[in-house]
Amino acid sequence: MNTFTLATEKISPDMSQDLLDWTDRISTLAYLVAALLFILALAGLSKQQSASRGNSFGIAGMTIALVATVFKAAVQSANDPENFNDAWVTILLVAVAMLIGAVIGIARARKVEMTGMPELIAMLHCFVGLAAVFIGVNSFIHAEHTTEAGYEKFHLGEVYLGIFIGAVTFTGSIIAFLKLSGRMKGAPLTLPGRNLLNLAIIVISLVGMVFFILTGTEEADNKAVAWTILGVMIVLALALGLHLVAAIGGGDMPVVVSMLNSYSGWAAAAAGFMLANPLLIITGALVGSSGAYLSFIMCKAMNRSFISVILGGFGTEASSGDDDRDYGTHTEITPEETAELLKSAKTVMITPGYGMAVAQAQYPVAELVRRLRDKGVEVTFGIHPVAGRLPGHMNVLLAEAKVPYDIVLEMDEVNDDFADIDVVLVIGANDTVNPIAEEPGSPIAGMPVLKVWDAERVIVFKRSMGAGYAGVQNPLFFNENSDMLLGDAKDSVEKITAAL
Ligand code: TAP
Repeated sequence: MNTFTLATEKISPDMSQDLLDWTDRISTLAYLVAALLFILALAGLSKQQSASRGNSFGIAGMTIALVATVFKAAVQSANDPENFNDAWVTILLVAVAMLIGAVIGIARARKVEMTGMPELIAMLHCFVGLAAVFIGVNSFIHAEHTTEAGYEKFHLGEVYLGIFIGAVTFTGSIIAFLKLSGRMKGAPLTLPGRNLLNLAIIVISLVGMVFFILTGTEEADNKAVAWTILGVMIVLALALGLHLVAAIGGGDMPVVVSMLNSYSGWAAAAAGFMLANPLLIITGALVGSSGAYLSFIMCKAMNRSFISVILGGFGTEASSGDDDRDYGTHTEITPEETAELLKSAKTVMITPGYGMAVAQAQYPVAELVRRLRDKGVEVTFGIHPVAGRLPGHMNVLLAEAKVPYDIVLEMDEVNDDFADIDVVLVIGANDTVNPIAEEPGSPIAGMPVLKVWDAERVIVFKRSMGAGYAGVQNPLFFNENSDMLLGDAKDSVEKITAAL
């Protein structure tokens, strides 16, 4: 007998039951507060002005949720003299795992560049998927301990679905990570009959679910059949995740990222059902539905069908992006000549893209805008919904550089006004200003783009004549009213400001 057991023996059974009841009440209350904070966080994050407050709500909610969960588990263990020592070892392991995770998370978050965020997010989604698979398998192994009689079949259904969603999210996110980080080619993988293949996997998995529920119960003499079905389904689901994302072309990746975000939410919600943890269900549902809504908004912005996105069936018509047409020769301009042009302009529109993020040119851009506005030039920004590599990427960078919100306009607000603009500065944007999107059959066909070519003059800031994210050449660069300002965007903008 050790000190721990002696300590618990001093608590009478009544006191012990009271303590458990109170712990339950306190943790339920804490879960409710955490869930409310998560909702407030989402509401805050929907606007730039309140985003930082939203973030604080999210951090507070997660802290409360973690403390409440560990506290509840600790009290429950302390009240179970039989498994007292084992339970404390488990809690200790959880604490150590949390500490290691926190150290890695903080180090990674401090180091990550804004341009590396999408692949980091894809990587994190893959962990959520994998966790759901592990929780599901564990939950099936210990089904007899965790399930009340009568709910067993329902629980088996939860386990199966949770593992399925988790496995799809896992491999889908890995492929998204590889594509976003440039380790895998962005062009879509177009296997013959790919939609049929996806459908077949889904149908086989659904049929497997019925047999799994029938053969996985405690009364079943032999669980080997259920384990086999589960194993086959996991392999199929892993293949489905891989195929769904591999089949999507470069320009459509934004929708995939938000779709995987949604899937990871549903995987977490499924894990919540398996663990009977209401907070995990609420949080997962919040992430799942907000991710689905974001995918819906992105689909509208990219002119894609939401249903075909969910089924991974979009991008199939697109070509591989090889385009060897001769668009003629381009003309180049120097920063000094650009400054002269800007001096005589009355209206200037800036359309930033991923290159502005790479060059970290937002501060010099903000300075250039201040100078021009002081000279009486009317300056506005036209922001494409998928410019950069994250939803709202350009807005975040411009807000960081203190560009006034009221001159930062959305694509729909500016797309009919380019004819009235004297000079458009395309700073590190490519696909989002590519007129080839208006050509059927191109890899970005149908995607709405900023019609910068309607302006009187267009200056394109980039380092080379290379293609954008979707890997398709941009005929805009060869237009008569376009000039290339080749070089790092930050350097070029600083030189223009100096010349002004
Ligand atoms: P992109 O098409 O990615 O083109 C960016 C351009 O910036 C490149 O052509 C590159 O040309 C130039 N660049 C890079 N570094 C530069 C630097 N230091 N200085 C100057 N220029 C530089 O940009 P976009 O128009 O923003 O389009 C975004 C693309 O990403 C779309 O295809 C979109 O579908 C995809 N995407 C978006 C998201 C979200 S949610 N926004 C997520 C994943 C993918 P050089 O190399 O010649 O300099």
